[in-house]
Amino acid sequence: MTLYNFIKPILFKLEPELAHYFSLYSLKFIHLLGLTKFLFKKQNSKPVSLMGLDFSNRIGLAAGMDKNAEFIEELGSMGFGFIEVGTVTPRPQKGNTKPRLFRLVKQRSIINRMGFNNKGIDFLVKKVAGSFYPGVIGVNIGKNFDTKNEKAVDDYLECFKKAYLVADYIVVNVSSPNTKDLRKLQSEKELRKILEALVKEKEELISQCGRSVPFLIKISPDLDTTSIKEVIELVNNLSIDGIVATNTTISRKEIPEYQETKGGLSGSLLTRRSLETIREVKSQLREEKVLIGVGGVSSQEDAVAMLEAGADLIQIYSSLIYSGPKIVTELIASS
Ligand code: FNR
Repeated sequence: MTLYNFIKPILFKLEPELAHYFSLYSLKFIHLLGLTKFLFKKQNSKPVSLMGLDFSNRIGLAAGMDKNAEFIEELGSMGFGFIEVGTVTPRPQKGNTKPRLFRLVKQRSIINRMGFNNKGIDFLVKKVAGSFYPGVIGVNIGKNFDTKNEKAVDDYLECFKKAYLVADYIVVNVSSPNTKDLRKLQSEKELRKILEALVKEKEELISQCGRSVPFLIKISPDLDTTSIKEVIELVNNLSIDGIVATNTTISRKEIPEYQETKGGLSGSLLTRRSLETIREVKSQLREEKVLIGVGGVSSQEDAVAMLEAGADLIQIYSSLIYSGPKIVTELIASS
C-alpha cells in the first residue's frame, strides 16, 4: 500500500480544487523536509535527446497542474523527465467562476473549466529562473480571456519573448476549450498569423540570446481531419519543432449525462480519441518534428500504445490524480 493509496480517500472527500492545492502544498512540505527522495522510488533513467534537449526519460507532466511554476522541484522529484508549466497569460487572471473542476471517479476522468487562472508571465518567469529542477522545463503560453482574437498574437508574442529567457521549450496553446473562442485560433488563417509572428520573433531572440529555444503547438482532439492537415502543413513548413497532442475534449459521446457540465474532458475517456489524433498527426508530420503525446495515459499499456502511435514523449495529468506518484515510475519503466 503506497502513501497515496492511504491519503487518496481523504483527498477525494475534499472539493476537487481544494484537494489540488492541499496535495501540492503537502508535497512542498514533504519535499522541504527532504522526504520525497525516500517516498518516490527512483526508476533507472532512460535518456533521450530531442530538439537539442536531454530528457532523462520520456515521461513528463502535462500543462495545467503547475500553472505558475510554483511546484517544479516537488513535482520533478516524482521522477518526471520534464515538467510543462502554465498555461500562463501576459496579465494575471482569476479564471472562470467556481465550481470549475469535476471528478468522474468511475470513469477515471476529469472535467475542468478552469479558464487559465494564473499569476501572469512575469511571476512565472521568476519562478522558472529560480528553479533547481535538473530536468527539462517547458512553458505553455496562452492569451488573456479579455484579449480579442484579433489581438491574440500580441499576447502570445509577449509571453513568448519573456518565456524565451528561461524555458527549455515553449508550447503555444490554442486548444483549451475554456477560454471563449480560443480554439478558433487553430484555423489556418489565425494560426499562420500567430506562428509566423513567433518564428520571426525567434530569429531576433536567437541573435540576442545566442540560443535557440524549441517551440511547439498544442492541439485539440476535436479537430477534424481537414483542420489537422492544415495545422500539420503549417508546422511542417515553418520553423516549428513539433506538436503536443492533445488537449482536453468537449465531446460527451460516452457520457451524455455530463452534457450540461461544460469544460474539457481528460483521463481515461480521452485515451482513444487522443491516440487516433496522434496516429493521424504522425502520418503527416515530417520526420524531424517532435510529437508529444498526451491524453488518457493511465497504464503501461497506454504508454506503449502511445509510443507505437508515434509519440516521442508522453505527458500525463489525470492519471496522477487517480493513481498517485507511482504511475510515473511505472510509465518510465514501460517507455
Ligand atoms: C488541463 N490541461 C491544460 N492544458 C493546457 O495546455 N493548459 C492548461 O492550463 C491546462 N489546464 C488543465 C487543468 C486541468 C484541471 C486538467 C485536468 C487539464 C490539459 C492537460 O495538459 C492535458 O492535455 C489533458 O488533461 C489530457 O491529459 P490527461 O489528463 O488525460 O493525462
